[in-house]
Amino acid sequence: MPAVAPDVRVHEARVHLNRPCGDDAFVLGVTLPEEMAPLRAGRFFMLRRKDELSPEIPRPFSVYRQTGPRELEFLVKIHGRGTRALHQSRAGDVLVTIGPLGLGWPDWQANAGPKWFVAGGIGSAPFMMGIEQAIAAGVPADQITYVYGGRTKGFLYDLDLFTDLGVRVIAATDDGSAGFHGNVVQACEHLIESEGKPERVQVFTCGPDPMMKAVVAFADRQGFESWVSLETYMGCGVGICNGCAVGTTPEGQLADWPVAKCCTDGPVFRASDIRF
Ligand SMILES: Cc1cc2nc3c(=O)[nH]c(=O)nc-3n(C[C@H](O)[C@H](O)[C@H](O)COP(=O)(O)OP(=O)(O)OC[C@H]3O[C@@H](n4cnc5c(N)ncnc54)[C@H](O)[C@@H]3O)c2cc1C
Ligand code: FES
Repeated sequence: MPAVAPDVRVHEARVHLNRPCGDDAFVLGVTLPEEMAPLRAGRFFMLRRKDELSPEIPRPFSVYRQTGPRELEFLVKIHGRGTRALHQSRAGDVLVTIGPLGLGWPDWQANAGPKWFVAGGIGSAPFMMGIEQAIAAGVPADQITYVYGGRTKGFLYDLDLFTDLGVRVIAATDDGSAGFHGNVVQACEHLIESEGKPERVQVFTCGPDPMMKAVVAFADRQGFESWVSLETYMGCGVGICNGCAVGTTPEGQLADWPVAKCCTDGPVFRASDIRF
C-alpha cells in the first residue's frame, strides 16, 4: 500500500481569488509560500481556514488548476460547514493547506484508444487539468470526449472553460436546460447509438457515487476499461485515521488487503479493483 505522498507539505497559504461559479460553487485561488513542481491531475489538498470559522478537520478538494508555481485553484461546491467557511474567504485570508495528496489519474496513454471523461456536477474538478495533461501527453484532442452532466445548466460549472480546451464536450442535464436531455450514461449510450461502438475506449469518471456506479456498469457492458475518482469522507488525508476506507475486490490489483485508503491509494482507482 502506498505511503503518504513524499511531496506533501503543510502550509499557510493566502487566498487571492474567490470567484462565483454556477448556482452553488466558487473557485478559490490560493498562493502558497513556496513553489511546487507541476502537479499530476487528480491529486488533492486538505483545506481549512486558519481561523475558527472552519471546523478543525480540514476538507479534501481536487486541484482544479495550477495557475503558477505557487498558485492553485480549487472548484468548491457549497455543502456543509467546512465549505461554507471557505466560501467566506476573501483576498488575503489565510488557509491551512495540506498537500499535494493522493496519486491522481494514471499515466495518459496516447495509443490506448479514445478517452471519455465523464463528470457529474462538482466531479468536474479533477478533469480540467486531466484533459490538459492528456493532450500534453500526446492524446489527440479529437480522441477525447468530455461528457458533463448536472441537474440543470447551473450545475455545469465553467462549461465554457472546458469547451476552450478544444476537446469534444457533451453537456447533459436532467431537465434539458443545456445540451443533451438526460443523464451522462444516457448521453454515452446515445453516442454509441449515433456513431457506432468504438473498439476500445478508456472511461474516467468522477461525480456522485450512484452516477459513477452507473458509468462503470455502462463501461462494463461495453467492455471498456474504467477508472473512478472517489470522494469519500476523509479525516486526515494522510493514511492515519482509516476514515476513507474502500473495499477491494479479490481479483483486483489491490487484493493483498481487504480495504484500500482513498487518501493514499487513491482517490483514483481502476474500477475493477474496488467495491464502492
Ligand atoms: C479526494 C477528494 C476530492 C474532492 N474534491 C472536491 C472538489 O474539488 N470540490 C468539491 O466541492 N468537493 C470535493 N470533494 C468533496 C468535499 O471534500 C466535500 O464536499 C467536503 O468535505 C464537504 O465538507 P463540508 O464541511 O462542507 O460538509 P460536511 O458534510 O459538513 O462535512 C463533511 C466532512 O465532515 C467529516 N465527516 C462528516 N461525516 C463523517 C463521517 N460519517 N465519517 C467521517 N468523517 C465525516 C469529513 O471530514 C467530511 O469530509 C472531494 C472529496 C474528496 C475525498
Ligand atoms: S483520510 Fe485518514 S486514512 Fe485516509
